[in-house]
Amino acid sequence: MPTIDDVKTIQFQDFGDKRGGLVVIEGSSDNGGTIPFEIKRVFYIYGSDEEVIRGQHANRLTDFMLINVSGTSKVKIVDGDENSCIIELNEPHYGVYIPHMLWKEMYDFSADSVLLVLASTHYDGSEYIRDFDVFIKEFEK
Ligand code: TYD
Repeated sequence: MPTIDDVKTIQFQDFGDKRGGLVVIEGSSDNGGTIPFEIKRVFYIYGSDEEVIRGQHANRLTDFMLINVSGTSKVKIVDGDENSCIIELNEPHYGVYIPHMLWKEMYDFSADSVLLVLASTHYDGSEYIRDFDVFIKEFEK
Protein backbone atom coordinates (compact mmCIF):
# COMPACT_ATOMS: atom_id res chain seq x y z
CA MET A 1 0.00 0.00 0.00
CA PRO A 2 1.23 3.55 -0.65
CA THR A 3 2.48 5.53 2.35
CA ILE A 4 3.18 9.18 3.02
CA ASP A 5 6.67 8.62 1.53
CA ASP A 6 5.05 8.08 -1.87
CA VAL A 7 3.55 11.59 -1.91
CA LYS A 8 5.60 13.78 -4.22
CA THR A 9 5.76 17.47 -5.07
CA ILE A 10 6.41 17.83 -8.78
CA GLN A 11 7.57 20.97 -10.54
CA PHE A 12 6.13 21.40 -14.02
CA GLN A 13 7.85 23.07 -16.91
CA ASP A 14 6.79 26.69 -17.31
CA PHE A 15 7.24 28.04 -20.83
CA GLY A 16 6.29 31.49 -19.58
CA ASP A 17 7.67 34.53 -21.32
CA LYS A 18 6.75 38.19 -21.42
CA ARG A 19 3.32 37.19 -22.78
CA GLY A 20 2.49 35.25 -19.61
CA GLY A 21 2.88 31.81 -18.08
CA LEU A 22 2.35 28.50 -19.86
CA VAL A 23 2.60 25.37 -17.77
CA VAL A 24 2.51 21.95 -19.42
CA ILE A 25 1.61 18.65 -17.76
CA GLU A 26 1.64 15.41 -19.72
CA GLY A 27 0.24 12.13 -18.51
CA SER A 28 2.72 9.30 -18.45
CA SER A 29 3.20 7.46 -21.69
CA ASP A 30 5.86 5.38 -23.35
CA ASN A 31 7.60 8.66 -24.18
CA GLY A 32 7.77 9.53 -20.49
CA GLY A 33 5.31 12.00 -19.05
CA THR A 34 5.38 14.60 -16.33
CA ILE A 35 3.14 12.69 -13.94
CA PRO A 36 3.12 8.98 -13.12
CA PHE A 37 -0.30 8.08 -14.52
CA GLU A 38 -2.49 8.47 -17.57
CA ILE A 39 -5.03 11.26 -17.03
CA LYS A 40 -8.60 9.96 -17.26
CA ARG A 41 -10.45 12.78 -15.45
CA VAL A 42 -10.03 16.47 -14.71
CA PHE A 43 -12.01 18.54 -12.22
CA TYR A 44 -11.48 21.77 -10.37
CA ILE A 45 -12.66 23.22 -7.11
CA TYR A 46 -13.26 26.95 -6.72
CA GLY A 47 -15.39 29.26 -4.58
CA SER A 48 -14.56 27.32 -1.39
CA ASP A 49 -13.61 29.66 1.45
CA GLU A 50 -11.27 29.32 4.41
CA GLU A 51 -13.96 27.67 6.57
CA VAL A 52 -14.50 24.76 4.19
CA ILE A 53 -12.86 21.34 4.46
CA ARG A 54 -13.13 19.26 1.30
CA GLY A 55 -12.02 15.76 0.46
CA GLN A 56 -12.04 13.82 3.73
CA HIS A 57 -11.79 10.59 1.84
CA ALA A 58 -9.40 8.00 0.49
CA ASN A 59 -9.68 6.32 -2.89
CA ARG A 60 -9.16 2.61 -3.28
CA LEU A 61 -7.99 2.93 -6.88
CA THR A 62 -7.43 6.51 -7.97
CA ASP A 63 -4.14 8.43 -8.03
CA PHE A 64 -4.38 12.23 -8.05
CA MET A 65 -2.36 15.31 -8.91
CA LEU A 66 -3.44 18.54 -7.21
CA ILE A 67 -2.42 21.95 -8.55
CA ASN A 68 -3.57 25.37 -7.36
CA VAL A 69 -3.61 27.09 -10.75
CA SER A 70 -4.80 30.24 -8.95
CA GLY A 71 -4.64 31.22 -5.29
CA THR A 72 -3.67 28.89 -2.47
CA SER A 73 -4.94 26.00 -0.39
CA LYS A 74 -3.53 23.31 1.86
CA VAL A 75 -3.83 19.55 1.70
CA LYS A 76 -3.35 17.23 4.65
CA ILE A 77 -2.47 13.66 3.71
CA VAL A 78 -2.61 10.73 6.13
CA ASP A 79 -1.50 7.16 5.49
CA GLY A 80 -2.71 3.90 7.01
CA ASP A 81 -0.10 4.10 9.79
CA GLU A 82 -1.50 7.57 10.59
CA ASN A 83 1.70 9.30 9.49
CA SER A 84 0.69 12.63 7.97
CA CYS A 85 1.96 15.69 6.17
CA ILE A 86 0.54 19.08 5.21
CA ILE A 87 1.46 20.64 1.89
CA GLU A 88 0.64 24.18 0.84
CA LEU A 89 -0.37 24.51 -2.79
CA ASN A 90 0.63 28.01 -3.80
CA GLU A 91 2.24 27.97 -7.24
CA PRO A 92 0.62 27.18 -10.60
CA HIS A 93 3.70 25.24 -11.71
CA TYR A 94 3.85 22.94 -8.67
CA GLY A 95 1.65 19.92 -8.07
CA VAL A 96 1.27 17.29 -5.39
CA TYR A 97 1.04 13.66 -6.45
CA ILE A 98 -1.17 11.65 -4.07
CA PRO A 99 -1.39 7.92 -4.80
CA HIS A 100 -4.48 5.85 -4.03
CA MET A 101 -5.29 4.64 -0.50
CA LEU A 102 -4.16 7.81 1.25
CA TRP A 103 -6.57 9.95 3.28
CA LYS A 104 -6.74 13.59 2.11
CA GLU A 105 -8.35 16.81 3.27
CA MET A 106 -8.18 20.12 1.41
CA TYR A 107 -8.73 23.36 3.35
CA ASP A 108 -7.66 26.96 3.91
CA PHE A 109 -8.77 28.01 0.42
CA SER A 110 -7.97 31.59 -0.55
CA ALA A 111 -10.84 33.54 -2.11
CA ASP A 112 -9.17 33.24 -5.55
CA SER A 113 -8.31 29.54 -5.17
CA VAL A 114 -8.82 27.33 -8.20
CA LEU A 115 -7.66 23.83 -7.30
CA LEU A 116 -7.15 21.72 -10.41
CA VAL A 117 -7.25 17.95 -9.90
CA LEU A 118 -6.02 15.35 -12.40
CA ALA A 119 -7.15 11.79 -11.73
CA SER A 120 -6.12 8.38 -13.02
CA THR A 121 -9.69 6.97 -13.25
CA HIS A 122 -13.14 7.88 -14.41
CA TYR A 123 -15.48 8.70 -11.53
CA ASP A 124 -16.81 5.75 -9.56
CA GLY A 125 -18.30 6.68 -6.19
CA SER A 126 -17.89 3.12 -4.89
CA GLU A 127 -14.09 3.39 -4.80
CA TYR A 128 -14.27 6.35 -2.37
CA ILE A 129 -13.79 5.59 1.35
CA ARG A 130 -15.44 8.42 3.29
CA ASP A 131 -15.04 7.02 6.82
CA PHE A 132 -11.57 7.34 8.38
CA ASP A 133 -11.96 4.20 10.53
CA VAL A 134 -12.94 2.15 7.47
CA PHE A 135 -9.86 3.51 5.67
CA ILE A 136 -7.58 2.38 8.53
CA LYS A 137 -9.20 -1.08 8.62
CA GLU A 138 -8.87 -1.55 4.85
CA PHE A 139 -5.25 -0.44 4.99
CA GLU A 140 -4.48 -3.07 7.61
CA LYS A 141 -5.91 -5.92 5.53
P1 TYD B 1 -16.78 15.14 -3.37
O1 TYD B 1 -15.97 13.91 -3.62
O2 TYD B 1 -17.50 15.22 -2.07
O3 TYD B 1 -15.88 16.42 -3.52
P2 TYD B 1 -14.53 16.80 -2.71
O4 TYD B 1 -13.77 15.54 -2.47
O5 TYD B 1 -13.80 17.72 -3.60
O6 TYD B 1 -14.92 17.48 -1.45
O7 TYD B 1 -17.83 15.28 -4.57
C1 TYD B 1 -18.94 16.14 -4.51
C2 TYD B 1 -20.01 15.60 -5.47
O8 TYD B 1 -19.56 15.62 -6.81
C3 TYD B 1 -20.44 14.19 -5.15
O9 TYD B 1 -21.85 14.11 -5.29
C4 TYD B 1 -19.81 13.34 -6.24
C5 TYD B 1 -19.66 14.32 -7.39
N1 TYD B 1 -18.49 14.05 -8.22
C6 TYD B 1 -18.63 13.46 -9.47
O10 TYD B 1 -19.77 13.12 -9.89
N2 TYD B 1 -17.54 13.22 -10.23
C7 TYD B 1 -16.29 13.57 -9.81
O11 TYD B 1 -15.29 13.34 -10.54
C8 TYD B 1 -16.13 14.17 -8.51
C9 TYD B 1 -14.77 14.55 -8.01
C10 TYD B 1 -17.27 14.39 -7.76
